[in-house]
Amino acid sequence: MDLIEIAHQLVAPSKGILAADESLPTIKKRFDKIGIKSTPVTRHSWRELLFSTREIEKYISGVILFEETLQDKSLVDLLLNKNIIVGIKVDAGKKSMPTSKNEVITEGLNDLKERLPKYKKLGAQFTKWRAVYTIAEGLPSHEAIYENANLLGRFAILSQEAGMVPIVEPEVLMDGSHDISTCAKVTERVLKVVFEELGNYKVNLKGMLLKPNMVLPGEDSAEKASPQKIAKETARVMSATVPKEVSGLVFLSGGQSADEATKHLSAINALGGTPPWELSFSFGRALQSTAMKIWKGDPKNLKFAQEEFLKRCRLNSEARFKR
Ligand code: 13P
Repeated sequence: MDLIEIAHQLVAPSKGILAADESLPTIKKRFDKIGIKSTPVTRHSWRELLFSTREIEKYISGVILFEETLQDKSLVDLLLNKNIIVGIKVDAGKKSMPTSKNEVITEGLNDLKERLPKYKKLGAQFTKWRAVYTIAEGLPSHEAIYENANLLGRFAILSQEAGMVPIVEPEVLMDGSHDISTCAKVTERVLKVVFEELGNYKVNLKGMLLKPNMVLPGEDSAEKASPQKIAKETARVMSATVPKEVSGLVFLSGGQSADEATKHLSAINALGGTPPWELSFSFGRALQSTAMKIWKGDPKNLKFAQEEFLKRCRLNSEARFKR
């Protein structure tokens, strides 16, 4: 498949992406919450539970893996046997910015060109790079916006040159007490610069996907925005910044509850009109967290956890229907 075909299949109607690419520190945080130790065995068991869930291929087009999982042939084969497209997180996490101590930039570009063919050999057809932006007094800084956008541009073109669809993920975090209009302004500014850089690196927009945050009030904000307001603001910002050639928008859940993320995706698709892109999901926590709480590391709970996981996959698939 060429890049455009892969991108289209990832956002095929009624399907979305499962992000199961938690790094070692992140999966540890998730497992700490359910009181289990993160080891190669527990990580394998959890991911096996997810990927072996019957009929997920009805709702899931692709799964983003962490490198450890891509090297685990039995897990990769579970996905390939269901015709689910395999992807890989290729960034190496965040580090403090020398010029702005309270902000981070994403690492991993130095050896990326050498790593990409290895991932392709292991079965990956798409890649993901996440940049994060903090909203606070005077933040995100000009430097954080430009440096992260530049890294996203370089990542995206290297990935396309290696024959894999890049998922470009600039995430404006929901941490903080800002209101929805601040999130809208920051997201608009961030995306504008991201697409300038993608243009500078001549990234083929049809052969990539954008993974944006939804436009929301901060987690600690007193403001409560309705799903319709969130959908409208999100659609307005995307229309103002995302070129029509991009094959699809696959929203991240970013710490919203599973129900909220689904409700908001549904409201975005219910806005109607004829947006130029598919409006889909690439959720991590919103697909996994409720099932993980049921599982708790105990094989006895496997069946119930899988039922819950399948339900979340189905509900998000349904949230893609235009009403
Ligand atoms: P969340 O949906 O939990 O935000 O995860 C998506 C993701 O891939 C973060 O990089």
